[in-house]
Amino acid sequence: MRSICLLLLIFPSLLFAQEFIPNYDESKVPDYQLPDPLAFENGEKVNSLADWEKKRVETLRYFETEVYGISPAWDGEMKTEIISEKQNAVGGKAIRKEVKLSLIRQGKQVDIYVLIYLPKSSSRSPVFLGLNFYGNHTLSEHQAIRVTDAWIRNNETYGSSDNRASEKGRGKRRENWAVEEAINRGYGIATLYYGELDPDFDDGFENGVHALYQEERNENSWGAVAAWAWGLSRVMDYLETLREVDGEKVAVLGHSRLGKAALWAGAIDTRFAMVISNNSGCGGAALSRRRYGETVGRINRVFPHWFAGKFDHYNENEDALPVDQHQLIALMAPRPVYIASGVDDRWADPKGEFLSGLYSNPVYQLFGKTGMPVNEQPDVDQPVMGDIGYHVRSGGHGMLPYDMHQYFNFADKHWKVHP
Ligand code: GCU
Repeated sequence: MRSICLLLLIFPSLLFAQEFIPNYDESKVPDYQLPDPLAFENGEKVNSLADWEKKRVETLRYFETEVYGISPAWDGEMKTEIISEKQNAVGGKAIRKEVKLSLIRQGKQVDIYVLIYLPKSSSRSPVFLGLNFYGNHTLSEHQAIRVTDAWIRNNETYGSSDNRASEKGRGKRRENWAVEEAINRGYGIATLYYGELDPDFDDGFENGVHALYQEERNENSWGAVAAWAWGLSRVMDYLETLREVDGEKVAVLGHSRLGKAALWAGAIDTRFAMVISNNSGCGGAALSRRRYGETVGRINRVFPHWFAGKFDHYNENEDALPVDQHQLIALMAPRPVYIASGVDDRWADPKGEFLSGLYSNPVYQLFGKTGMPVNEQPDVDQPVMGDIGYHVRSGGHGMLPYDMHQYFNFADKHWKVHP
């Protein structure tokens, strides 16, 4: 007993972590009122696209200061080096490269490695860019693809218990990324290991790209989700330089915590022409005020390094948030955005994810678009595709070939790609 008390004294978060009981009962979702995405703080209405530009700045600012933290502008230098290249990858249909991007600033350097598959094509290809959870080698059987030496989460399937990736993981996530289908349909895939941008533990923001900036941290400073999103923009900087890539058609996608990062990347960097959230949940597509499944308090206590310190102010106090996640989706307008859920992934609140899309509609409508094309959450495995796409897939948390298949369909619809 004494040792338990001592533990709780040292790690009070354990107390909360143990006590948290998620609500999975729709009838217990509290009454809540969402901020109007088309009303300024002083109550005035947004009536025109010029008004929206101002409101967009106000909204973005709130997400920066209250939720994700303010990311620094990039003023460093990027060096690139191709570390492996194969002309006849994916059954001869694709070019595969792994490229080292060195981000250099004020004498500091962070290296990230991007794995790229591009269809062999005479025209520039649209690309899906996303972070991966366990290293580039998990997408490929080929020894040429490097095993990351960055910290990884302990996981028997993908690595070892000492936070290192290993050969064990090689090729294990290949299906999830549907590389072959992408290539067959004329799309490229670009991915990198998220831990190279910022290792996913509470290290006082000393590692990863945070280390490039020696700023005094305050409660609005950028957290890990923002660092991952910032890294996606650096890869975008690189993709834009490739003559095989159509820089106007780069979709940013991500699963779960990396879906949160993809959404934030899409919000701050409008070069991403399409944004895809796969099971991103709390702090991603799900409405915080619903308090269904994971909540703001719970996420901040268990992952204190993910968000701005200021986000803690809204633990068990969601109604005080000046924004909710439907406004994050609205920041993508008029660009196409896809939100996907898994029906058994109640922790991520599939309905709350759908509603975020739906409640962003007024902003899409201002652009003469429809946004989410239906008013009710569709049945399981019945994707809908308007300017906003949505599906709730059967099964739980994960990014599956089924999900990727829908994203390619969505991109076909918006980008009319026919190889
Ligand atoms: C945890 C976390 C989620 C997150 C997920 C993931 O479940 O609570 O917010 O999305 O991890 O990234 O897999």
